[in-house]
Amino acid sequence: MKHFLKETDFARSELPKLFASARELKRKRGMRGAPKPLAGQTWALIFSKSSTRTRVSFEVGIHELGGNPLFLNKNDIQLGRGETVEDTARVLSRFVHGLIVRTYEHSEVEQLAAAGSIPVINALTDFLHPCQIYTDAFTMTERWAKGTTGAKLVESLRGRKIAFLGDTACNMANSWILGANLFGMKISLGGPKEFAPSAEFNAALLAEGYDPKTAYHFTTDPFEAVRDADVVYTDVWVSMGKEEETKARLRTMAPYAVTGKLFAAAKKDALFMHCLPAHAGEEVMQEVLDNPRSIIFDQAENRLHMQKAILAALAAARRH
Ligand code: CP
Ligand code: NVA
Repeated sequence: MKHFLKETDFARSELPKLFASARELKRKRGMRGAPKPLAGQTWALIFSKSSTRTRVSFEVGIHELGGNPLFLNKNDIQLGRGETVEDTARVLSRFVHGLIVRTYEHSEVEQLAAAGSIPVINALTDFLHPCQIYTDAFTMTERWAKGTTGAKLVESLRGRKIAFLGDTACNMANSWILGANLFGMKISLGGPKEFAPSAEFNAALLAEGYDPKTAYHFTTDPFEAVRDADVVYTDVWVSMGKEEETKARLRTMAPYAVTGKLFAAAKKDALFMHCLPAHAGEEVMQEVLDNPRSIIFDQAENRLHMQKAILAALAAARRH
């Protein structure tokens, strides 16, 4: 069974087809004859955390592919009252064709995938957010490989540098380290020393075949991080589940705010990206969000197209 729990669940060799599919689905959106590979299927979304982009893009995407989305707030199903993850997976496998899961512990998506008999998509855990990273990479290719498709799209990422600022230990930072290595990009992290990638994360990188010594560059100097960067990326300083640490995080991460001055220290044509939601005046200043090289709303829109490509790929893998 093919799942999408982490960036490396698609091999590099599968990426040209996936990216070309996202591009094609974007072009054909709303046209008569647009493909409906989920016709007759129901895909359930089990969410334990808030969401705007992920929930809406998956619900709309499943509908556009001919399927039926079924949203389940964790607290409304027995999983929220202690039914085991394994039994939930076994039962839902008898009813629906796939699961899309947003939760805290990454092990929960792994357990659902292991116990069930249907594809599972990670819609964000405390550890990783792979749907966002694939979408972001696709969004970069729209700028760097205009008018091309397939292998050329993915090739346009090779050698580019992304600088990730602020909470360099969050799910987005982890996912971007994995993604950058998969796509052949360089990644530089600028954040407080206590937010450097953890030993646990380095062990996970090693298990994926990437040497933590060369897979990323970590610095406490934000200007060093953005030097020669093609993309400056940031995320909220207080991820879902970390609210109790708000005061300390805002204080520690203040030097890593993406100001106009910091953005200007990257390459002249650098892009600004953010997975959103953004907290203007904290991790990024409004002037950067509004900069013509900020592509945050293209990122948000592309969640729909890339996730439709992922859904179609997992549904096809199931048929074979
Ligand atoms: N970027 C992202 O995943 O947004 P939501 O939390 O709104 O889904
Ligand atoms: N790091 C953020 C990402 C939100 C899309 C969080 O986990 O809350």
